[in-house]
Amino acid sequence: RGTMTVGETAKLLHKDASEVIKKLIMLGVMATINQELDIETIQLLAGDFGVEVEVKIPVEDDRFETMEEVDDEANLKTRPPVVTIMGHVDHGKTTLLDAIRSTNVTGGEAGGITQHIGAYQVEINGKKISFLDTPGHEAFTAMRARGAQVTDMTIIVVAADDGVMPQTVEAVNHAKAANLPIIVAVNKIDKPGSDPDRVKQELTEYGLVPEEWGGDTIFVNVSAKQRMGLEDLLEMILLVAEVNDYKANPDKRARGTVIEAELDKGRGPVARILVQHGTLKVGDAFVAGNCFGRVRAMVNDKGRRLKEAGPSTPVEITGLTEVPLAGDPFMVFEDERKARSIADKRAITQRESDMGANTRVTLDDLFKHI
Ligand code: GTP
Ligand code: MG
Repeated sequence: RGTMTVGETAKLLHKDASEVIKKLIMLGVMATINQELDIETIQLLAGDFGVEVEVKIPVEDDRFETMEEVDDEANLKTRPPVVTIMGHVDHGKTTLLDAIRSTNVTGGEAGGITQHIGAYQVEINGKKISFLDTPGHEAFTAMRARGAQVTDMTIIVVAADDGVMPQTVEAVNHAKAANLPIIVAVNKIDKPGSDPDRVKQELTEYGLVPEEWGGDTIFVNVSAKQRMGLEDLLEMILLVAEVNDYKANPDKRARGTVIEAELDKGRGPVARILVQHGTLKVGDAFVAGNCFGRVRAMVNDKGRRLKEAGPSTPVEITGLTEVPLAGDPFMVFEDERKARSIADKRAITQRESDMGANTRVTLDDLFKHI
């Protein structure tokens, strides 16, 4: 909505309507309490009351972006869960990811050159799991800060010889704030002096109580290094996925999130994308952040060329005009012209908001409180 009434404006500015009307008269506007004000007037008013306002006029296409399309239940199909791994420094996140990846290459894919695409997919008994290989908390936090919801559940790795540490607590808090199911992987159980029960004990203080102690948090003892307990862990992930029944509609234009992107000397801008809705196809015109393009080539985490990729599939694509940012929304449009015009509009909005970077309250924020 581009307007608010005098009454609503007053409420948002925490002023009496009479004060707002007085100010309006001073601005040369004779208004009643139910009169609709345009954005410029609201901005002027806000300025007069010492509230800085950044104008974000909702563009038709941007509204499309934020609009949550409701899929018909009948069109939804079960999709693989998307899992992130978090935990304290050196507790074994990378080792665990690598161990899972290397133990679970399916026959046909064995021997394929593993690509670093910021995410990968494993298959267990015909069921897929996508792992986001985010470098620690930063990328995850950055993405969350940008409003990108990419993950379905999180594995918190805690080294059994070290116990709960500051970043463990941070990870628990992140997961809880994002309302994500948590599986605790108690790692390094091969180490002499490791004490898995101590980890459980310590985590109860943060509300993570193991099932055997009457709680509902899944704990799995693993050794990433010795590859112990990995099957149990994967089984638990599939169990959580089954309970939550993650679904998406694969039969529409793709949408997703940029996981990573960079400029490749030979191939130009390259983006790793998690497809979240719909199916991405080679040749599709898309917008990623402020960039647009057309999918020229698409490969999966095993370096295999794909013609299309459905929900929860991580892929690497080329065919962009510029390098987007991690966390940027990715969206396919009917043609390249449309994609380009939306990317251009976004770039302008971005520049405008960069110029007004010192403003604190956005008009969107104000409208949100109605
Ligand atoms: P950062 O990315 O730096 O936060 O660390 P990380 O959590 O990714 O830990 P990483 O996988 O790099 O492991 C840290 C150290 O712990 C390495 O020396 C690993 O070999 C070792 N390590 C990881 N898992 C195990 C395990 O199960 N047992 C033993 N004994 N050592 C492990
Ligand atoms: Mg690491």
